Amino acid sequence: MKLLHEGKAKRVYIDDSSPDNVVIEFIDNVTAGDGAKHDVLEGKGKLACDLTAFFLKSLQKKGIETHLVKVLDDTRMRCKKVEILPVEVVCRNIAAGSFCRRYGIEKGTVLAEPLVEFFLKDDSLHDPLITSDAAVNLGLVTHSEIQFLRALTLSVNHYLSELFKQVNLVLVDFKLEFGKTTEGVILLADEISGDTIRVWDEKGESFDKDLYRDDEGDIRVAYSHLIELQQQMDIDAVPVREEVIHVIVQPKDGIKNPPGEVTRKALSRLGFTNLRDVRVGKVFEIHLSKPITSAVLDQLTLMNMKLLSNPVAEKHHVRLDL
Ligand code: TMP
Ligand code: ASP
Repeated sequence: MKLLHEGKAKRVYIDDSSPDNVVIEFIDNVTAGDGAKHDVLEGKGKLACDLTAFFLKSLQKKGIETHLVKVLDDTRMRCKKVEILPVEVVCRNIAAGSFCRRYGIEKGTVLAEPLVEFFLKDDSLHDPLITSDAAVNLGLVTHSEIQFLRALTLSVNHYLSELFKQVNLVLVDFKLEFGKTTEGVILLADEISGDTIRVWDEKGESFDKDLYRDDEGDIRVAYSHLIELQQQMDIDAVPVREEVIHVIVQPKDGIKNPPGEVTRKALSRLGFTNLRDVRVGKVFEIHLSKPITSAVLDQLTLMNMKLLSNPVAEKHHVRLDL
C-alpha cells in the first residue's frame, strides 16, 4: 500500500481496493507540544484505534456521518477518502488546558454551556485559535459550513457526554476534525481517542493524554481502562438530541412588502417614528429526529425552493445556530 500522508500518530495509505477510500493506521507514537515531546509506546496504536472505532460507530448509530467504513485489524481502519478541513473544532464542558491558560480560568470550572472553539490546523503556527469570522473571511470554510461544524460538534458532545456519564466519567473537552468527500459531503473524520479528548472521574483524575502531557502516568493503562468501560456504554440508551433548524424567508430587496408597510405605519402611530422601512418575513422552525447531515441541508434547499419560499419574490437562508 502506498503511503499518502504521515501524521504524528497515524499513517494514511491509498486503499488499493477502492479510489473512494483510504486505509488509516494508528501507530504507537505519542507526542505533545507539537511534537516537542515524543515517545513510542508499544500497543498505543491499537488502543487509540479501538477507542476511535467504538466512538465513531456509536455516533454513526445516532445518524452522525463519519469517515469510518470498516475496521480492518488491530490498528487499521478503512475510511472514506476526504480532504481534511483546515479548521479543528474543540468543544469544552469544563475549563482545562489552553482555555485556562488563555483566560486565567481555574481548571475544573464548569462552563455555563458547552463551548465550541475553532483552531487553525497549522503546526508551524502552533494551531492558533481562530474566530469563525476569520475562518470564513480567509476562505477556509464557508459561513454555512462553520454553522454545520458547530451544530455537529454539539451533537457529538451530547452523545459522547452521555456515554461517559453511563460509566461515571465526565467529558471535559475534545477536538474533532472534519473532512469533505469529492462530492462535497462533510463527514466527521480523524480519531476520537484518549489523544483527542479529556475525561475525568468524579475525583478529577484523568483518563486521557494529559497523563502524558503532564508526566503523570502511562496513557496505555488509562486507555485500556476506557476500553474496558466501553462494555458498559450503550449508545442505544442515550436519548436522541433535539436538533432544530430555522429557515428564514424574507422579501427580496426592492420587492414591495405590504405587511411591512402596515407594521411601519402602526409603529409610527405608537411614536416610533425614526423608521425608514420595515420588512416582514417568516421563520420556519424545523425539528429533526436525527443530527443534521449534508443531505438534510441539501433537502432543505430543495424544500425552500419548492415549498417554503417563493424564489421570485423572496430570499431565504438556513440558520443552525439559533
Ligand atoms: P487544549 O485545551 O489544549 O486546547 O485542548 C482541547 C482538546 O483538544 C483536548 O481534549 C485535547 C485536544 N487536542 C488535540 O486533540 N490535539 C491537539 O493538538 C491539541 C492541542 C488538543
Ligand atoms: N497533538 C499535539 C502534539 O502532538 C499537541 C497535544 O495534543 O497536546 O504535539
